[in-house]
Amino acid sequence: MRKSNSLADYASKRFRLAGKAYLDSGDPFFAPSDVLRAEAVRNGRRFVSFANYDYLGLAAHPKVKAAAVAALQKLGIGALASRLVGGERSLHHRLEIGLAKFLGVEAALALVSGYLTNVTTISHILGSHDALFIDELSHNSIVSGAKGTAAETIVFQHNDLDHLDFLLREKRANYRNALIVAEGLYSMDGDIADLPRLIELKEKRRAWLLIDEAHSIGVLGENGRGLWEHTGVDPQEVDLIIGTLSKTLGSCGGFVAGKEEVIRWLRYTLPGFVYSVGLSPVIAAAAETALHLMQEESWRMERLRRNAALFMDLAHDAGLDTGPAIGRGVVPVLFCDSYETLAASSYLMDNGYYVPPIIQIGVPKDQPRLRFFISALHSEEEIRGVTELLAARDIERAVPAARSLSAAT
Ligand SMILES: Cc1ncc(COP(=O)(O)O)c(C=O)c1O
Repeated sequence: MRKSNSLADYASKRFRLAGKAYLDSGDPFFAPSDVLRAEAVRNGRRFVSFANYDYLGLAAHPKVKAAAVAALQKLGIGALASRLVGGERSLHHRLEIGLAKFLGVEAALALVSGYLTNVTTISHILGSHDALFIDELSHNSIVSGAKGTAAETIVFQHNDLDHLDFLLREKRANYRNALIVAEGLYSMDGDIADLPRLIELKEKRRAWLLIDEAHSIGVLGENGRGLWEHTGVDPQEVDLIIGTLSKTLGSCGGFVAGKEEVIRWLRYTLPGFVYSVGLSPVIAAAAETALHLMQEESWRMERLRRNAALFMDLAHDAGLDTGPAIGRGVVPVLFCDSYETLAASSYLMDNGYYVPPIIQIGVPKDQPRLRFFISALHSEEEIRGVTELLAARDIERAVPAARSLSAAT
């Protein structure tokens, strides 16, 4: 009898290979946080999320909401066309001018998604005679951009710039152009790239440099301008800065920024911009207001720095492994195996702290973790509370139970 070849069978096999068994003892993903929060409030319980990258607490700021409502009333929800042909609003232009000014570069272009911005920019810029150098722990959007490019992709070990230098020395001469891509603050490990050295390398080896500042805007640097400010580098030295509106800026969408000639070229040719609808005016207004507020209310950055430092100190006092994190907005707590991570996440959830496990997807399989997004809005009590719970022995008792339940199903 011929074996079934249905898409459903194929999907079920692929899902099994992707680690479906981890869900058998309870699915910790897709938790409806609005419902859980409302339930907790009703029952006089705590619900504290460390799962959201609202680093400065601007997402629900009354002025951000008011700007979104005003744009909604005036302009409606959608841009209703690609901006190139009918979707342009004055708000788009204002947001881009504000972003470029904030970043210290000449121009910026906003797209409907941060993920899309990486995919389309990285796959668009290079041709078949070129090379793309990416970090082995690059975000999936960078990896997808690499899959879409005609250029050769060359991977260097995570944050190992000696390795990058070696690869450039060995291979650069074989290609016409070269682009190096690195991230400002790595989203799973909370560590940073050595930007001054990257600039030195790109100059020495005649390459271009793209930095994805998705998690570093509002987080790194005295004024939250990102890795270049944190490391004291001139932003003009970075060829392209990519960022997202979904994290510190509390909404949704992405942007690419750099020299005027480069952005002008992209404005007319970047497929993810030209062939996709313009950013919703509601989102553009919210992001623009958040960008102003983060500069006006600079205490938020100071609070974030203090909170993250407190979290790091307490985690280390408790003997927790925070990997290579530098102690800013993203801090992982590493566990020995996925079941221990699942048990820790569920234990925290039972005690009112929402910290989903990161296993299998987005991190090496042998490095499961709880990833904490720290926010300026977390209180000292919440940070102390969650680290104390993690240090508690009860997690270790819960692990064998989670493991045997999964083995039995
Ligand atoms: C480093 C990095 N780049 C890009 C993105 C994509 O941004 P967005 O979620 O806004 O699409 C993310 C998302 O988390 C990210 O971590």
